[in-house]
Formats: sequence, C-alpha cells, structure tokens
Amino acid sequence: MNKAIILAGGQGKRMKADMPKPLFKVLGEPMLEWVISACIESGIADICVIKGFRGEMIDEYLGGRFTTALQAERLGTGHAVMQGIPFLKNDMSGNTLVLCGDAPFIDAETIGESLKMHTEQDNAVTVITAELEAPHGYGRIIRTESGISGIVEQKDADEEQKQIREVNSGAYWFRTEDLTELLEKLDCNNAQNEYYLTDTISIALSEGKKAGAYKSANAEIIRGANDRKDLLELNDYARKAVIEKHLANGVEFVCTDGVIIERGVEIGAGTQIQPGTIIRGKTRIGSGCILGPNAVVANSKIGDNVEIDTSHIYDSEIESGVIIGPFVHVRPDSLIKSGARIGDFVEIKNSQIGEKTAVSHLVYIGDSDVGKKVNIGCGTATVNYDGISKSRCVIGDNCFIGCNTNLIAPIKLGKAVYTAAGTTVTRDVPDYALAIDRGVMKVNEGYTLRKLKTVKK
Ligand code: UD1
Ligand code: CA
Repeated sequence: MNKAIILAGGQGKRMKADMPKPLFKVLGEPMLEWVISACIESGIADICVIKGFRGEMIDEYLGGRFTTALQAERLGTGHAVMQGIPFLKNDMSGNTLVLCGDAPFIDAETIGESLKMHTEQDNAVTVITAELEAPHGYGRIIRTESGISGIVEQKDADEEQKQIREVNSGAYWFRTEDLTELLEKLDCNNAQNEYYLTDTISIALSEGKKAGAYKSANAEIIRGANDRKDLLELNDYARKAVIEKHLANGVEFVCTDGVIIERGVEIGAGTQIQPGTIIRGKTRIGSGCILGPNAVVANSKIGDNVEIDTSHIYDSEIESGVIIGPFVHVRPDSLIKSGARIGDFVEIKNSQIGEKTAVSHLVYIGDSDVGKKVNIGCGTATVNYDGISKSRCVIGDNCFIGCNTNLIAPIKLGKAVYTAAGTTVTRDVPDYALAIDRGVMKVNEGYTLRKLKTVKK
C-alpha cells in the first residue's frame, strides 16, 4: 500500500516564535494540514509525520490521527526520513511519498501524476521538480540524456550547476523497499555535514536502480516560508487563489479588500461578498446572499438569500431569507429559521429562533427555543444563568414580548402570550394570556418645582 512521510521537524527561527514551522497557518490552517490534505485527496491515508523541534506540539495538533516519529537531532533530510524506518517496515509492498511539512501548496494532481511516472518507469525514486526563475538556495536537478543523474545542493554546486533552473521541490516518490535500502547507504560527506535525502538518487543509479524526475506544472509546490514576510505572501497567494475559484463559480466580489475565505468554504452562485468579510472553516453559503461589509462567518450553514451585515456567526445554521445585522453576534449551536429578522445589538446563543420571528434590537437570547412569528421587544433578556447552572426559556408561536421583559429560566410561555413592557416573568404563562408585573405608577404633581426650590437655596 502507498503511504507518506511528512517532514515536520523544522523550527523556523526567523519566525521568532516557539513553534514548529509546519504549524504556522496559511488561510487559517497549519501548513502541515495543507500537506496532509493533499495526501488524503490523493488517496494516501497511511501517514507518518517526522517531528523534531517542539515535537509535542505536533503530537498535540495531530491528536493521534497519524503515526509520528521523533528526529531528536537535526542531521539532515535523509536522517529525518530514517526516523520513519519502523513505519516503512510495517508494510514494504508499495511506494512512499516524502513531503515537506512546510511547503503547503503540494497538490493532489502533482502527487498523482508523479506516481504514475514513478510506477510506469519502474523507478526506485522519482523526485518532483519545478522550474524557477530564481532557483537560488534549492537543490538543482542534474539531467542527462537518459534521465536524471542526481541533485546538487546550492552549497555544493559549481558555477555551471548554479545556472540550472530546474530544482528539487523536496517531494519524492520511493519504492518503499528501495527507500529503506538507500537510507542505509547515506553518509554526510558534504558542505553541510548532513545526511542528504537527495543523495538517494545518485546512490540508486550507482546500484543499477532507476531514478526519474517529474517536473510539476505548478511551481507553487516549491513555496515555503522562512519568515513572517514569506508567510504573509503564502497567505496572499492562497487567499487570491480561493477568491478566483469562487469568481469562476459565479460569486460576486465588489472589492476584495479584507476578504478572507478559507479553502473549505462553499458559496452558491449569485452571492455577493463585500469588503472585510471573513468566512472560515467548513462554512456552506447558499445563493443570492449578501455577506458584509465586515461579516464573520465560521463553521456555519447559511441558506439562500440571507443578508449578514457587520455581524459574527459561529457554528450555527441560518435558513433562507433571514436578515441579520448590523452588529449581531450569533454564538454556537443556534438555528435561525427562514424569514427571521435579527436586528442590531442582538446576541443569540444556543437557541432556536422560529420562522418570521423578529428580534430587532438590543436583545439577549440564550439557551432558548423561540417559536414562529414572535416579536421580541427591545431590551428583552432571557435570564438563563443563575450563577450556577443554565436553564432554557421556551417562547411559543405568535408571542409578543414587550420591551425590557426579563424571562427568568427555566420558563415556558405558551402560544400568543403577551408580556407587558418591563415585566419580569417568573412563572410559566398559558396560551393567549398576558403577563404583567408592574407596581402602580404614581404621579407626584409639582415635584420638579419643589425640588428646584431646595436646590437654589
Ligand atoms: C531541501 C533539499 C533541496 C530542496 C529543498 C526544497 C536536501 C539535502 N535538500 O533543502 O534539494 O531544493 O529541500 O525545499 O534534502 N528537515 C528535517 N530534519 C532535518 C532537516 C530538514 O525535518 O534534519 C525538514 C525541514 O523541516 C523541512 C524539510 O525537511 O521541512 C526540508 O529541509 P530544509 O532545511 O528546509 O531544506 P534544504 O536543506 O534547504
Ligand atoms: Ca538544510
């Protein structure tokens, strides 16, 4: 079976952070995750991640999803792969893909096509390459008439070799059995005193095995980040690529300033994304929506023709035709049903809002089930927390909740209940009733005049 080894031992000193480099994020996901997902998309699920610097952070991030092996000392890319030998020996039948955990743009097509070449040519090793305008720093591919003769690192290259623009991406296919043999033969007799994985090519050839080079049409597979500026460039590149995909799918952008859309997001045709809008995670958005300006939507499902203006929505579902904002915060596990109107300065948490219900201004709804065609007056609060535990409020269909009503949970209002403005509701209210809780209002005539007199003295 085919499998993959991902090198994730790098520190990234120039990032100036105490974190393994592959955990730095591009469009909200660690670079390592981009590499993993390219493997998964190519049908490779048996993965070993080689960790080094702050290896425990890699383990914590992966949460047991894949095998890991520790490279305790940083002695080169060949030495890093050697740490995966026990993993390789579990199953020697197929091929092993070696990838760098800090080159996020490796893609499934390159992986698939290079494997095709690797198996068709019956190679022991096939290196994935790309042609660069500025090849400085990379290992150069030395081609011969019959194929490839080796890879020369920048620091070991002569002037002529430095002119070569085809470079090693750091990704390779190996026949697994050959890889274990080749690793045993590596030494560190070179300018950096490292075990170079690249030497496997010349060793394979000297042993009469076959080696090849697959040149990817996508030079972006080479891209990595050594410092924060590089990382920003990776983010910019990925951000634009995602926006271009949505443009091709019929999504409208008036101006892409401040627009960040993570790559797992789906958006229907005819939806308009306005500036400052950030859409994260596994969000699905229907068609005909208007998002923004300044909307943040994360891990949520949004129906068709929804408007979200200057509001944040997290881990929730918004059905079709809902209008939200400005200044609304929808917190996790909420469901806003079709045609509802959620106005400004409203917070909704772990609640369901029924069809065509209006929650127009200055309201907190937490842990509640609100029916359909309800009107929630300005300043209403569900009092869901007593300092120890949280309780639910149930508000029936067609209720009319007066301004500044407090609903002390747990509580249940039946169908079409009215609450008078300012009422604190402490008991359940049956269908069609009015809940009113008010002191008798007094009017003290002439009060102001008398008060002013005392002040003036
Ligand atoms: C390596 C290749 C070079 C190629 C380049 C592509 C070698 C000798 N050279 O260069 O031909 O053009 O990648 O980016 O392989 N790593 C470890 N442990 C180590 C050393 C490296 O885990 O001891 C990891 C790094 O974290 C990184 C990857 O291996 O993910 C590549 O290492 P890096 O030092 O960035 O590559 P170069 O040596 O510059
Ligand atoms: Ca190096």
